[in-house]
Amino acid sequence: MKKVVIAGFGFMGTMHAQIYNQLRGVRIVGIIDTHPAKASKSMGGLGLKVPLYSSLEEALTDAEPDIVDICLPTHWHARFAVEALRAGRHVFCEKPLALTRNEARRIAEAAKKSGTIMQVGHCIRFWPEYQAFESFVRSGRAGKLLSLTLQRRAGRPLYSVGDWLNDSALSGGASLDLHIHDVDYIHHLIGRPKAVTSRGTKDYSGWSHIFTTYDFGPKGPSVTSEGGWNYPAQWGFQMAFQAVFEKGAVEFDSNANPTLTLTLGGRPRQPLPFRTPKTGESSTGAGNLSSLGGYFNELKSFVDCVRRGRAPQVATPRQAAESLTTTLTEIQSAATGKTLSVPAKL
Ligand SMILES: NC(=O)c1ccc[n+]([C@@H]2O[C@H](COP(=O)([O-])OP(=O)(O)OC[C@H]3O[C@@H](n4cnc5c(N)ncnc54)[C@H](O)[C@@H]3O)[C@@H](O)[C@H]2O)c1
Repeated sequence: MKKVVIAGFGFMGTMHAQIYNQLRGVRIVGIIDTHPAKASKSMGGLGLKVPLYSSLEEALTDAEPDIVDICLPTHWHARFAVEALRAGRHVFCEKPLALTRNEARRIAEAAKKSGTIMQVGHCIRFWPEYQAFESFVRSGRAGKLLSLTLQRRAGRPLYSVGDWLNDSALSGGASLDLHIHDVDYIHHLIGRPKAVTSRGTKDYSGWSHIFTTYDFGPKGPSVTSEGGWNYPAQWGFQMAFQAVFEKGAVEFDSNANPTLTLTLGGRPRQPLPFRTPKTGESSTGAGNLSSLGGYFNELKSFVDCVRRGRAPQVATPRQAAESLTTTLTEIQSAATGKTLSVPAKL
């Protein structure tokens, strides 16, 4: 049985706790949070009776976890990840891996040296509809992928403790916090772009909406992406993409019914099935976005890797650092108005 301590018991920490409670071979043995009243209330809501710590040192000594799961505001990721890795613990760290390339490099190096297992919360690589789309692309059923455009839009987030999400010095703003999901998926599906051209809108929270064209060379697909959280707070959330192939099209919209559709072979648009976790049943997405599927899949995969002593192949610290580098280049492009090459080096 692997013992896990969750650092940060806000929105994502409680989400991870609910998933660990459903996974075999792992047990939550402690929570770390600096807002004890709020954290205790959330723990009570989940019936979680484990010690609540105020620091990583205390949790490492007292609870002796095998795994540290970091669900802290992003500016804390580097410090907690490096310390846990140096203490020989396996680490799951929420995305974005860090705020800067330097921090990301430090984490990736510590992970390499530690000999333990580390995975980053790039859940879209594990999200059922995005996985089904990836399989469809790789199958070649509709021929070559010609173009792909992705969107991730949200109402202004007002829930975070001390409003850290709207402070770009702490969160990196919407581009690093939200849009990076699609950047990471583009890396996963197609690879690192040669260059990016970005424009966007900036407000008190930093780059709150960014629009990017990715250069994959003359033979590569045309790829664009948009991510922002400057919609009104009540607006809700949408993730979506549209892909055109030589012989067909695939569309995804988290707010549509069905969510994932295919137009191919002279037939009208129809649902493209995807696999939801837990039951393993196939779904057509008729009104049921896979919901928490990506979060469940990523933690299940991580825990399986820890139990088998096998390094993750997906959402590794290195891959997360590469996605961070591309996203930071997009921000730089938006700030300067120039097309910029994406550095190949971490
Ligand atoms: N993968 C996803 O889809 C997804 C979605 C949301 C958030 N996230 C990421 O998860 C991380 C956490 O975000 P959140 O939405 O849960 O934030 P949140 O504000 O809801 O929760 C953060 C928690 O950390 C605690 N905390 C702050 N500083 C601390 C410290 N030094 N030591 C211990 N506890 C501390 C706070 O009290 C709070 O309970 C961020 O990196 C965010 O980008 C990922």
